[in-house]
Amino acid sequence: MRILGIETSCDETAVAVLDVIGSGARPHVRVLANVVASQAKLHAAFGGVVPHLAKREHQKNLVPVLLAALKTTGLSHSAKRKAYGTKRSAMSDLRLAEILEREPEFLLYVKRRLMRFSPPKIDAIAVTIGPGLAPALWVGVNFARSLAYLWGKPVIAVNHLEGHIYTNVLPESSTAESRKTKDESRPSSFALRPLAFPALCLIVSGGHTEIVLMRGYGRYDVIGETRDDAAGEAFDKVAKMLGLGFPGGPVISRLAERGNPRAFVFPRPMINAANFDFSFSGLKTAVLYTLRDVKRIGDQTVRDVAASFEQAVVDVLVRKTIRAARQYRVKTVMIGGGVAANKKLRAELGQALTRQYPRAAYLLPSTSLTGDNALMIALAGWFSRKKKTAWRSLQADANLRLDSRRD
Ligand code: KG4
Ligand code: ZN
Repeated sequence: MRILGIETSCDETAVAVLDVIGSGARPHVRVLANVVASQAKLHAAFGGVVPHLAKREHQKNLVPVLLAALKTTGLSHSAKRKAYGTKRSAMSDLRLAEILEREPEFLLYVKRRLMRFSPPKIDAIAVTIGPGLAPALWVGVNFARSLAYLWGKPVIAVNHLEGHIYTNVLPESSTAESRKTKDESRPSSFALRPLAFPALCLIVSGGHTEIVLMRGYGRYDVIGETRDDAAGEAFDKVAKMLGLGFPGGPVISRLAERGNPRAFVFPRPMINAANFDFSFSGLKTAVLYTLRDVKRIGDQTVRDVAASFEQAVVDVLVRKTIRAARQYRVKTVMIGGGVAANKKLRAELGQALTRQYPRAAYLLPSTSLTGDNALMIALAGWFSRKKKTAWRSLQADANLRLDSRRD
């Protein structure tokens, strides 16, 4: 089964094509394309993602990103489409105008660049429908609806967080850069890593911090989540206070490597609470007060604050994840989301598991896939392949949850 993935929930415009061979116990995959256009630089000037700018950029970038992805796969060619005679074309024009009613400029772009292409050899289109920024999500959803209509393909609605979880089943070597070896046109295939259930995933991103218990593929129970800021958001806000720019996670963790994690004593919010919830806004405020009291903030102070802050976040994440793993006697522990790229978190969770709960398999996603991408959406789409829908019923849902049990 060949799936085209589309992701526009935040500030990355991404399209990927994934080939899944076999559906038994150990399916193999081939990554045919994985293209990401990041808007990070644009939003950096504002210190965070600006929703209406994100929407505009997605509208601008989606068609070129799709064309780049299709070009890599060799699945599409720009021969004039015979199937679309004048009559058919007029009808599809009308329908497209209806689908992209709220995005007139985008419609022009789609018509000018896409109608010339013959439908690529794919079986379904997987698209992120939420959670995320509503204006950004809708661009991707309407784009997927247009393609599904134009090409006559079914769509699969994907939860963005599910995508982050499934990055763990891809072996590290299956990612895009490893394909650049030998023969570009024939990427190798890789067996997906099977998950032993129950499995636990710590999702840590710019918008979410959740501990998810999985009792099977597609069966999620959110057993804990943040009550205020997400872990990535805390990294971003602390980076802003230190004048380090946006996004903050990568730069804080880089500086922290040369800082003293015990130089400042920051709180570990809710670390001992008898639940799996988190809170990071108090920690952020503690950093703010500390910075106010420091007389001279030199380079080493910045490194020490970064290291002490990072240590506080990692301590809470690790302690709660280990406790959840033990309580639910899980067989697999994994992490996903932008903050899953954090080296300290990856290492310290691994060490804590070895010491305190060695019976669980510890899976880590490739750091090239922890940020938002469409490969993870195509993959999550494959796991939901039985839930294909028609383009008409597709809707974005900015507050989509993995489970529907907790409000
Ligand atoms: O998953 P993601 O790309 O986007 C969302 O869905 O939110 O996550 C982005 C977040 C940002 O807050 C960024 O600062 C954080 O991930 N991040 C990191 C690191 N790399 C990215 N946080 C800590 N350490 C990192 N190395
Ligand atoms: Zn994300």
